[in-house]
Amino acid sequence: MKRFIFFSILVIFQAGVLACAESEVKSPLSADAYATCAACHLARGEGIPGGFPPIRNRAAAIARLEGGREYLITVVSFGLMGQLQVDNTTYFGVMPGNQGSMSAEQIAAALNYSIFELIDDKSKVAGIKSITADEVSFIQSQTTAGSPNTAATLRKKLVDGYGDEWVE
Ligand code: HEC
Repeated sequence: MKRFIFFSILVIFQAGVLACAESEVKSPLSADAYATCAACHLARGEGIPGGFPPIRNRAAAIARLEGGREYLITVVSFGLMGQLQVDNTTYFGVMPGNQGSMSAEQIAAALNYSIFELIDDKSKVAGIKSITADEVSFIQSQTTAGSPNTAATLRKKLVDGYGDEWVE
């Protein structure tokens, strides 16, 4: 009987550990949250030239820059509007903001998926910290009356600051 109790406890304990491990993997990075983005940027993040810019390999490159994380969170929260140049292609579109339709957790998960999964060379994400829901909420609370122009202004600062190097 003692043996049985011991094994039962062991099984329950292991199930608990497995459940935790699974939720740790799922919550900060989620393909479900990215599904919203895939409608335009496509499942692998390659985008559509001239229509929707690629975010594959670029989300990670942007996240590395000083001010890059704030830019990514602002784009997804409040949208983006204006003329962009990406890989010698011009985009003049409008991305709608998601603050009203996605929770801070979902925004963080979609961005983490973009950074850590939509990348060819995974060694390039070593050292990048995942985006947390708290970070998203903080940026949102700092941005009064955020609109697609808010991210456009941040992008211009990054482009001016980093020049042609702004995303590798
Ligand atoms: C309805 C289509 C649409 C959806 C949905 C969408 N985007 Fe966008 N996204 C765009 C367009 C269009 C642009 C470029 C806007 C412009 O031309 O100013 C853009 C730009 C971006 C940029 C900026 C790229 C750069 O080079 O500066 C990022 C990052 C981004 N989107 C990430 C996301 C993520 C993450 C999601 C999901 C939460 C998402 N987008 C959902 C259409 C969309």
